Amino acid sequence: MEFTIALVQFKPERKNVTKNIQKIQSLLQGLSADLIVLPELSNSGYLYAFSQTLIPFSEPANGQGPFLTALREIAAKTKGVIVSGYSEVDKTKLYNSAIAISAKGILANYRKTHLYADEKSLFLPGDSGFRTFTWKNVTIGMMVCFDWIFPESARTLALAGAQIIAHPANLVLPYCQNAMITRSIENKVFTITANRIGEEKLGEQKLNFTGKSQITDPKGEVLYRGPKNKSTVHVMSIDPEGALDKKITPQNDMFGDRRPDFYINLAHLK
Ligand code: ACM
Repeated sequence: MEFTIALVQFKPERKNVTKNIQKIQSLLQGLSADLIVLPELSNSGYLYAFSQTLIPFSEPANGQGPFLTALREIAAKTKGVIVSGYSEVDKTKLYNSAIAISAKGILANYRKTHLYADEKSLFLPGDSGFRTFTWKNVTIGMMVCFDWIFPESARTLALAGAQIIAHPANLVLPYCQNAMITRSIENKVFTITANRIGEEKLGEQKLNFTGKSQITDPKGEVLYRGPKNKSTVHVMSIDPEGALDKKITPQNDMFGDRRPDFYINLAHLK
């Protein structure tokens, strides 16, 4: 089966939701895709000193705010589902979230499980658990950026049936792109890491985001790796059925051969 995916890499502007909407609208002008993945915190940008200063650029998961309203309108034009990272506010609590949204509305909302560095002073650790949704009979899972370093994230999504892992990111460490190749092989899934580019400064702090957004397939082939520091949209067709066969040799099934009793219970070592 043919399933069209698109990955978007750009530089979200801090404290400027309107400009970020306009950038996304212009990058996706005239495009159609079953699944589009945007970076982490695409509405707000990344570096903030306090939750209080981030709240005005955040919005609730009910889809009523300007960013999610715009994404829904864009999804109507691109005729598919969009997964985007965004800063979510729930009353006074902030979450670093990813949402799946189509013309009809919200399919799933995921709150980042593993917060990175100073994110811990802005956001609460996610309480949604890993989330999947189905689009055109394809099961898609969501994780956000630093979730990558915990293999349990991708494993949980794959065990829940995800054929594609949509992975909005704001990467600063250099390891993730290589690690996602392994996440693909060990779970036999497609991964789409939509990373951001550019630099942000806050006082003494300076972060350089690493670009090189990436698509991998269940054999660990890198189907696409983007540029380091340029906005880009990459569209391609994949066959998600390739992620349904978990055999790596005729005798080895990546899921069937698991021995969970030995993974979580270390009592036998005592
Ligand atoms: C990250 O999780 N944004 C590094």
